[in-house]
Amino acid sequence: MLPLKTGLIGCGSFARGMHVPNMIASEYYTIHACCDLDEDAARAVSETAEAAYFTTDVNKIFNDPEIEVIVIATWHDSHAELTIKAAEAGKHILCEKPMGMNMAECRKIATAVRANNVKYTVGYNRGLSPFISKAVDLLTPENDKRMIYYRMQAPFPASHWTHNPAVGGGRFIGEGCHNFDVLCELVAAPPVAIYASGGIFLDPDVVKIPDSASVTISFADDSVATVLINSKGCADFPKESIEIYCNGKVICISDYIKMETFGFEPNCKTTLEAKTQNKGHIKEIEQLADAIINDKEPPSGIRQATRAACISYKVNESIATGKVIPISEEEYNL
Ligand SMILES: NC(=O)c1ccc[n+]([C@@H]2O[C@H](COP(=O)([O-])OP(=O)(O)OC[C@H]3O[C@@H](n4cnc5c(N)ncnc54)[C@H](O)[C@@H]3O)[C@@H](O)[C@H]2O)c1
Repeated sequence: MLPLKTGLIGCGSFARGMHVPNMIASEYYTIHACCDLDEDAARAVSETAEAAYFTTDVNKIFNDPEIEVIVIATWHDSHAELTIKAAEAGKHILCEKPMGMNMAECRKIATAVRANNVKYTVGYNRGLSPFISKAVDLLTPENDKRMIYYRMQAPFPASHWTHNPAVGGGRFIGEGCHNFDVLCELVAAPPVAIYASGGIFLDPDVVKIPDSASVTISFADDSVATVLINSKGCADFPKESIEIYCNGKVICISDYIKMETFGFEPNCKTTLEAKTQNKGHIKEIEQLADAIINDKEPPSGIRQATRAACISYKVNESIATGKVIPISEEEYNL
């Protein structure tokens, strides 16, 4: 069974920089075929990965009986259709975030994945990073009622397709889902309400939907988490920082390379520094392989994927209406 023969759909910058090198280095996967609308992109990645073939026809990937796993790393408007076709073809799936562009798409994906009994992982890798895992371990029940601040300052130029509502869905659906997922993983209780205040900070002649916001999520145990998502900062400034406050203790994670804790041992500050940034991408593909081989639950499966997606749609709703938008488990327990 090993290595799992993999069909890659979407041979752009993220696949080239992350999944392709990680899969080439992995004992669990071999990239068997590469597909992209752009033939040159498919050819280039196919050569790097020494794949059996490349194509611009996605159906060739779905119909290939040798392929067991499909990795989808395309623009966001194609994720739902490609995921559903992959599930119907009986392939296991790693789909990059977002799960889909709206709840209707998420619902169809959940139905197709369950009906065809395939493993599904959405690319919320950050929850699998060692520092988030360590923070979850430290956050034992006596440290409940958490207050969390997450800074996500990643300049995204106005011309980037993520800001195109039809293709990318905008920054909150397209990327904020990562942050919303991490916040939900760091709080033991489910989210109950979302309030977002933001707007268009990039060129309003080009960008037509909000690109930056402060988003506050309230949880059933009275925990509160705020994420600042900014599209017009400076790439020289560190991108991500997470501060968790609870029960006289603090955890601070800086760019997934440094973690400081305060108060977990009396009068004691600890610092962990990794040699390289680790956002959980390798663990993601390893856990998915384990789930496929040993018939386990995959990482970031349907329920987790839908939870953060549901929050992301409500962020746009809150910005548009100026209202607090409730959220319930029934909405995302598809
Ligand atoms: N998990 C992470 O850390 C992370 C980071 C960056 C990007 N991403 C995600 O990776 C995905 C790709 O982003 P990117 O930055 O590589 O974009 P990109 O524009 O560089 O690459 C996307 C590629 O997909 C191809 N494509 C688009 N629609 C297609 C379709 N229907 N069929 C076949 N090919 C198609 C395009 O031709 C392009 O080559 C997105 O979902 C993005 O959100 C994830």
